[in-house]
Amino acid sequence: MTVEPWASQRLDGKLAVITGAGSGIGREVALFFAAAGAQVVASDIDGNAARETAALVGAAGHVVPADVSDRLSIERLADAAEAIAPIALWVNVAGVGAAASLCDVTPDLYDRVTRINMDGVFWGCAAAARRMIPRKGGAIINISSNAADQPIPTLSVYAMTKAAVNMLTRSLAAELGPHGIRVNGVAPGFTLTGMTAPDRLTDEERAALIARNAARSPLGAVGEPCDIAQAVLYLASDAGRFVTGQTLRVNGGVAMP
Ligand SMILES: NC(=O)c1ccc[n+]([C@@H]2O[C@H](COP(=O)([O-])OP(=O)(O)OC[C@H]3O[C@@H](n4cnc5c(N)ncnc54)[C@H](O)[C@@H]3O)[C@@H](O)[C@H]2O)c1
Repeated sequence: MTVEPWASQRLDGKLAVITGAGSGIGREVALFFAAAGAQVVASDIDGNAARETAALVGAAGHVVPADVSDRLSIERLADAAEAIAPIALWVNVAGVGAAASLCDVTPDLYDRVTRINMDGVFWGCAAAARRMIPRKGGAIINISSNAADQPIPTLSVYAMTKAAVNMLTRSLAAELGPHGIRVNGVAPGFTLTGMTAPDRLTDEERAALIARNAARSPLGAVGEPCDIAQAVLYLASDAGRFVTGQTLRVNGGVAMP
């Protein structure tokens, strides 16, 4: 295949569903995909935030609120997206952080984190694959985390869900490859979003947080949502057509598994 390097990253004529698109990494993926020519279904449990993302995307933006902890809500999202155009790309971004020592993990916290971060990705993949298989093509990208590579006290539940996502990505790559569907992941390191650096932080607190996390990276840097979105675009586009079953670490070199 001989193409212009940038042309292989175009997504013209493709419809992408993005969960967790109301903020942070998900919103940035929506903007990158639209800039690459895709139609984007911005989905989030926060409907207003998803609408804001779609407004930023412009004419290529659509909104379908959904709660990924509810399998039927994911199915309704997939049906609504298919009513617009066949789903070519599905990106599972929705996720929640949760810090608690093992003995402080309540059943409610455990259920919430596993249902959103793990079950939500599983059923998202299933909803996408069920519709992509008959068409023999598509790409799914799951957002994992550096936490799956590095044991961090108080992040056991979160890390467990992300490790499960990594294995799911590999299992489904093997299963869906023969149907022309690629399944990959992106594992961000510390990235500046509302999850990690909420608006309520003072300037000093924010600077200290960035310095602390940058010090862990050989590059002396923390990530921005655009760093993650570019990796997702690569895996979604023809540029990544020979790549499946991989979780690309976009983490400033903090972990090199
Ligand atoms: N920011 C980081 O440093 C970092 C690092 C590693 C992994 N991640 C992962 O990246 C993903 C995006 O995180 P972010 O940093 O952009 O955080 P964020 O809080 O800005 O975005 C998460 C989005 O998910 C949505 N969401 C939460 N629960 C949902 C549900 N039940 N159904 C649908 N949507 C729901 C939220 O409303 C929000 O818009 C998450 O999966 C997170 O675990 C983030």
